[in-house]
Amino acid sequence: MTLIYYFSHHTANACLFPVCALHHVAVTTVEGIGNTKSRLHPAQERIAKSHGSQCGFCTPGIVMSMYTLLRNKPEPKMEDIEDAFQGNLCRCTGYRPILEGYRTFAKAMMSSSLFNSSEFQPLDPTQEPIFPPELMTQSNKQQKQLCFRGERVMWIQPTTLKELVALKSQYPNAKLVVGNTEVGIEMRLKNMLYPVIIAPAWISEMNAVQHTETGITFGAACTLSSVEEVLRKVVAELPPYKAEVFQAVLEQLRWFAGPQIRNVAALGGNIMTASPISDLNPVLMASGIIHLPLISPCSTEGKRTITMDEKFFTGYRKTIVKPEEILLSVEIPYSKKGEYFSAFKQASRREDDIAIVTCGMRVLFQDGTNRVEEIKLSYGGMAPTTVLALKTCKELTGRDWNEKLLQDACRLLAGEMDLSPSAPGGMVDFRRTLTLSFFFKFYLTVLQKLSKNHNGTVSAAREDELSSLEDGEWRISWSCVLLQEVPRGQAVEDMVGRPLMHVSAAKQACGEAVYCDDIPHYENELYLTLVTSTKAHAKILSVDASEAQSVPGFVCFVSAKDVPGSNITGIANDETVFAEDVVTCVGHIIGAVLADTQEHSRRAAKVVKIKYEELKPIVTIQVRWLRSASASIKRINKGDVKKGFEESDHILEGEMYLGGQEHFYLETHCTLAVPKGEDGEMELFVSTQNLMKTQVLRVLLCRNCIVHFGLCLINVSFNRTGRPVRCMLDRDEDMLISGGRHPFLGRYKVGFMKNGKVKSLEVSYYGNGGNSVDLSYGVMDRALLHLDNSYNIPNVSSVGIVCKTNLPSNTAFRGFGGPQGMMIAECWMSDLARKCGLPPEEVRKLNLYHEGDLTHFNQKLEGFTLRRCWDECLSSSSYHARKKLIEEFNKQNRWKKRGMCIIPTKFGISFTVPFLNQAGALVHVYTDGSVLLTHGGTEMGQGLHTKMIQVASRSLGIPTSNIYISETSTNTVPNTSPTAASVSADINGMAIHNACQTILKRLEPIKQSNPKGSWEDWIKAAYENCVSLSATGIPDLGYDFEKNEGKPFCYFSYGVACSEVEIDCLTGDHKNIRTDIVMDVGTSLNPAIDIGQIEGAFVQGLGLFTMEELRYSPEGNLYTRGPGMYKIPAFGDIPTEFYVSLLRDCPNSKAVYSSKAVGEPPLFLSASVFYAIKDAIYSARKDSGLTEPFRLDSPATPERIRNACVDIFTKMCPSAEPGTFKPWSVRV
Ligand SMILES: Cc1cc2nc3c(=O)[nH]c(=O)nc-3n(C[C@H](O)[C@H](O)[C@H](O)COP(=O)(O)OP(=O)(O)OC[C@H]3O[C@@H](n4cnc5c(N)ncnc54)[C@H](O)[C@@H]3O)c2cc1C
Ligand code: FES
Repeated sequence: MTLIYYFSHHTANACLFPVCALHHVAVTTVEGIGNTKSRLHPAQERIAKSHGSQCGFCTPGIVMSMYTLLRNKPEPKMEDIEDAFQGNLCRCTGYRPILEGYRTFAKAMMSSSLFNSSEFQPLDPTQEPIFPPELMTQSNKQQKQLCFRGERVMWIQPTTLKELVALKSQYPNAKLVVGNTEVGIEMRLKNMLYPVIIAPAWISEMNAVQHTETGITFGAACTLSSVEEVLRKVVAELPPYKAEVFQAVLEQLRWFAGPQIRNVAALGGNIMTASPISDLNPVLMASGIIHLPLISPCSTEGKRTITMDEKFFTGYRKTIVKPEEILLSVEIPYSKKGEYFSAFKQASRREDDIAIVTCGMRVLFQDGTNRVEEIKLSYGGMAPTTVLALKTCKELTGRDWNEKLLQDACRLLAGEMDLSPSAPGGMVDFRRTLTLSFFFKFYLTVLQKLSKNHNGTVSAAREDELSSLEDGEWRISWSCVLLQEVPRGQAVEDMVGRPLMHVSAAKQACGEAVYCDDIPHYENELYLTLVTSTKAHAKILSVDASEAQSVPGFVCFVSAKDVPGSNITGIANDETVFAEDVVTCVGHIIGAVLADTQEHSRRAAKVVKIKYEELKPIVTIQVRWLRSASASIKRINKGDVKKGFEESDHILEGEMYLGGQEHFYLETHCTLAVPKGEDGEMELFVSTQNLMKTQVLRVLLCRNCIVHFGLCLINVSFNRTGRPVRCMLDRDEDMLISGGRHPFLGRYKVGFMKNGKVKSLEVSYYGNGGNSVDLSYGVMDRALLHLDNSYNIPNVSSVGIVCKTNLPSNTAFRGFGGPQGMMIAECWMSDLARKCGLPPEEVRKLNLYHEGDLTHFNQKLEGFTLRRCWDECLSSSSYHARKKLIEEFNKQNRWKKRGMCIIPTKFGISFTVPFLNQAGALVHVYTDGSVLLTHGGTEMGQGLHTKMIQVASRSLGIPTSNIYISETSTNTVPNTSPTAASVSADINGMAIHNACQTILKRLEPIKQSNPKGSWEDWIKAAYENCVSLSATGIPDLGYDFEKNEGKPFCYFSYGVACSEVEIDCLTGDHKNIRTDIVMDVGTSLNPAIDIGQIEGAFVQGLGLFTMEELRYSPEGNLYTRGPGMYKIPAFGDIPTEFYVSLLRDCPNSKAVYSSKAVGEPPLFLSASVFYAIKDAIYSARKDSGLTEPFRLDSPATPERIRNACVDIFTKMCPSAEPGTFKPWSVRV
């Protein structure tokens, strides 16, 4: 018997790891490894200096993943680094700079021009903190049982099996907890309460690993990481035939959660959770002989052993194991000669995601033959439990492994692995098809092995089918950025145009950056929790908070009647602070509970009872509902559309739907209100992009991101209690109540010539606005203003309609309707190219604007650099050569296809509401020459403060080290426009520049009288002069929709991206092989920040167009309320080759120091990935004889990709007739 002790380093999720389980464990946090005052740890220094942090909220977690890896492996390989980040997410950076900075630890080749790796401190493992000796000594001593008692829960940690059994006898219903990765979720998110918890993690028998004659027995508390470690070693030593099951377990563990979960989650926990989408249960079940020894304090014999067979799971999350029984261990068997095993999993995202369908498949052949002696096919995700395809397996037993068996197996599985069209989880056709696709993969795998083992007497699989078995290399192989260089002769101290590090990066990497909820608690502070509607549309009959009053620490419940003044709010006065009579979406705020702690206020909020009378909700964009819905209509028309159609050679009509997007900022909304003592004065700390709203107390609550969260609630609460009040939303609350990007439906009719030249376009855009107007009209305006993307369309008729629905109000999101408008343009553009039978890149280029052209909104294009970007991107991506290779690849592979697409973007820069294009700045110069700078923009990671320091530095002609920035606040710069529309660097930069010019003008006489003096001399001399230090700037803009005249935009930002992908036609998976971007950012103020924005926006767009899917019930209830179900791109999703370059020599006369806006414009470039996927699907469909344009909605999820690759397997799983069933989820 081998006992595994863990003195190594492991990452863990702080939110799931119970504090009680930390006894005898040394915890290292980001603050403990380095700091800005003494020394940064190399893991902190490198992420900061390689520009790997923006908002910095994810940075400590990423630093600690790297730190842990370095502690265990000081010289890691690049693969180790990528694997270490499987459980980390970042919403800002696009991951490339993080990987590039950390690549230096792997000593991989470097090419970055954005940082100088020779400046990095070397990693010296001898300098790391040691494991505390007292803990080391204690671990050798006899452990004592531990017991912690909380207000409602008791945690007991026994040290021996005997103690455990005794405790189970005393508390038969006590919950066993090992990793807490399941129970923690149940208690935090599912409102479950387990009054007694027993933690068996210290019990040696439950952590033991025993090698037996038949396999390896793991104690049920062995963590998944330890199982992985043991199996990896064993597999390397065993003959391959013996390790088939182990290999399959390893394959499942490779994509099982992230290391933070695998490091703590137990094998027994996975089995006993009995989740229908468990990754290990299908493998264990298919292996056929898994024995599970159980111990029970209640039965007379004490122990029994059961087998994981078809009777093991008795229902959803239920097994035949009795509540009082304890699973002791699990034996994973060796495989035999003639036995083959595979496991497959398909999820929405490769890394750290639960399965949509998962399976374990085993076949044993009669000795020396290809005749099936025994076969087990076990699936997860196809029923409320893991299931065995018993009927299919029975029919296949005794059959030869050949084409006929494959066909029969698929037919049988299609019948047996059936799902109701209303099945929970949805994706019914996809899940059914996956069961066949997986079997096909298994069939081919076995065929290959049989053919090899039987010296060719069994015929091998077809060459063109074999690539379907290759998992492919998912590693990030290369990335590169090409910058503009600063002009020769630019002074060294002039930092404009240089990659200055984000001013907060070091603090973020050390965990020193203070976020809203990091502000220390005030004495007497209260915590606020929202009470929200569970119905999408209903009358409120009663609200009863009486039970909440009995929760300890309860202070009060506030609702509409507590609002001083008007309860009506919102941009169009169509929102309420608190719902009064009617609720209009799930998540509509009805009231809030205030209590002494977060825990108490949450508990109290959960027991507030609301009675409703339900009304019919409308949640989807359905054109037939529009008349009854309150809709606003906008139009842009140009030329003569009818004539344009008459002159066209072809006319194409179609429709495309684009799903919405959740912001998923890592720091959720937070507000803290603190009384200042006199005259009701209050200080507010708000996570907002729109500080001005904090000035307006009447506008109490706006449920959108760019404004501010909960200010009104806090005010109401504050009025009622006079105490400091804090509220930070949990992820699920934030996702539920805040709006996101508008889902869009686009209908188009496009007329074009045989050569692909577009003549005429008629489009209708429908946006799902949700339950209030908020910014929906502005979003629709921008969608219409971008319906051309970058193409010259002589005749346009367009209409945009915002639909009012019973969903939380949708709002501003990076791109503000632009991406939706352009995406639909690219849809008809790609379809018309197919219709003409011409290469899409030729048709796109033919239609691109030229310098001086008028857009459909009659704005002249000046400084039109897009054609340069296009040519550079075509050339740098070696487009034409690679296209040939792709064609060749596609000919040789039936089930893997590649696609490529090059896409342009033209993004208008300005708020389309002209007066918002103003800003303010306040510049103080102190007598020592130092400068304190404040401006009206919010720094949310995008590097605005850093750029503003660079602008001030050049304007004043002093080093950046003399300039300090003060946090944005309404008491220094009032009436700020929202930090939005990509213009913040432009308008605040100009305001700062103007303020600096004012100061310089006033210093001029002093400088003239002392031309050789230093900055400090002049400031000293000016001390006795009064210097006024603020300025604003307003560009000249304005556009009239009715007349289609004026100038909605100050200028345009341009870019082009070329992306290549590979799809797995059988599973719908896709891999981003390579992306090349050429972007015009004018003369970059800071290339590191601009490239960070380009990559970050691109990856966020990648999420929008390929991954992120909001799922709602037909009743308007959001299912996707957290990272478990809503997937944003992870490290492994970025292109394996990622090249970004900034267009050179393209100064922009319209913005500060010839720069250009960059926050939003690059997002749309990720559409190149979507259309590359569509290109690959075309190739797959061609093999099935389908060549006509087809519809692909966004995002291109595995489900959509697989369903679009029509083939024999999809045909065996036909869709149910719409209207004959109630779907689990609806497209909103
Ligand atoms: C972010 C995240 C990602 C995840 N990804 C995946 C994934 O990719 N694939 C997947 O399959 N799962 C996944 N899970 C689910 C979960 O991690 C696993 O099921 C895990 O193995 C549970 O182990 P645990 O030790 O944490 O269980 P715990 O939460 O400690 O316990 C789970 C259940 O098992 C019972 N139990 C535990 N040990 C015993 C025992 N010895 N005898 C009797 N009952 C016992 C407990 O009482 C409890 O009911 C994920 C979870 C999270 C939070
Ligand atoms: S820097 Fe990673 S989430 Fe912002």
